[in-house]
Amino acid sequence: MRQAGRYMEDYRKLRARHDFLDLCKNADLAAEVTLGPVERLGVDAAILFADILLILEPMGIGLEYSKGDGPVIRRPVRSGKDIDGLKEFDPAKELSFVYDAVKKISRALENKVPLIGFAGAPFTLASYLIEGAGSRNYIHTKSLCYTAPESWHRLMEQLALKVAEYLNCQIAAGAQAVQLFDSWAGCLAPGDYEKFALPYTKAVIDSVTPGVPVLHFSTGTAGALKQIRAAGGDVIGLDWRVNLDEGWATVGYDVGIQGNLDPVALFASPKEIRARAADILHRAAGRPGHIFNLGHGVLPETPIDHVIALVDAVHELSAR
Ligand code: CP3
Repeated sequence: MRQAGRYMEDYRKLRARHDFLDLCKNADLAAEVTLGPVERLGVDAAILFADILLILEPMGIGLEYSKGDGPVIRRPVRSGKDIDGLKEFDPAKELSFVYDAVKKISRALENKVPLIGFAGAPFTLASYLIEGAGSRNYIHTKSLCYTAPESWHRLMEQLALKVAEYLNCQIAAGAQAVQLFDSWAGCLAPGDYEKFALPYTKAVIDSVTPGVPVLHFSTGTAGALKQIRAAGGDVIGLDWRVNLDEGWATVGYDVGIQGNLDPVALFASPKEIRARAADILHRAAGRPGHIFNLGHGVLPETPIDHVIALVDAVHELSAR
């Protein structure tokens, strides 16, 4: 997740010349950005270069990526009336630039490594729509859940339908697995996750083209892993706030897991990075179904040599 990005010089150079949304909407450039880290880092899978918020743009909410502040939504949704005002759209048509990029990338990868498509999970998308940006306490989002549950459920139903269709279009274009990012699910109490998020994540996962593996990612959900697991996914993402062995035991060995190095560990020395990778692999205990990954995306300030050192260490330590 966020293999590409500002920690890479080539990306920064390209970004100096193009707006973020233009990069996403130009299939040639999106393909170039996707393929860069695969070559440079030597990772075992490619993740499509796009963003979870692209699907919100056709709803007419004024999505912008302003310099330094991360994404913002100029017209956030705060009420039932706002929800009714969202534009209806067809993900197969309005996001065709994404499928064009997927086709180009698949061709270029020649099946050497798989391509992972992705989307935001309904809860995280809704929280962006409602807050208008990242948030510390999710006051607007949770208030809508608690005070206007019917409006909330109406919004979530809509998002779940669009996300499922969007993922299936990526699969039709050549994505070999899909990842659902519920980055902000950890702000919810487990009981609220069950009520307000789980049914919609489950609806998306249940609608994914049969046979295509689904990676279910979230952060800050160490206390709700049973619920996350219940929502579905062939692979459950774990962040670094839980020991990998304990997290895997909680979700069950009949699903795979992905994780779970702290992204900030990449600021330590290569020797320390290697020791931490070894600890995670030790906790996975050679069981099939572990995808080594960070617990969240690569941070912009990360030294790229340390990312490469991690990839090399994982390959060496897990070679059989
Ligand atoms: O690595 C890749 O090439 C995959 C592409 C990818 C991006 N965003 C590109 C991106 C993926 C998989 C995402 C997912 C995404 N986007 C998530 C879920 C994963 C997570 O990190 O929790 C979320 C929450 C978003 C929303 C988003 N987009 C945020 C919060 C930001 C700001 C990030 C920051 O570091 O400031 C973005 C912008 C974004 N998306 C960038 C990239 C490369 C940086 C944009 C830039 O060039 O300025």
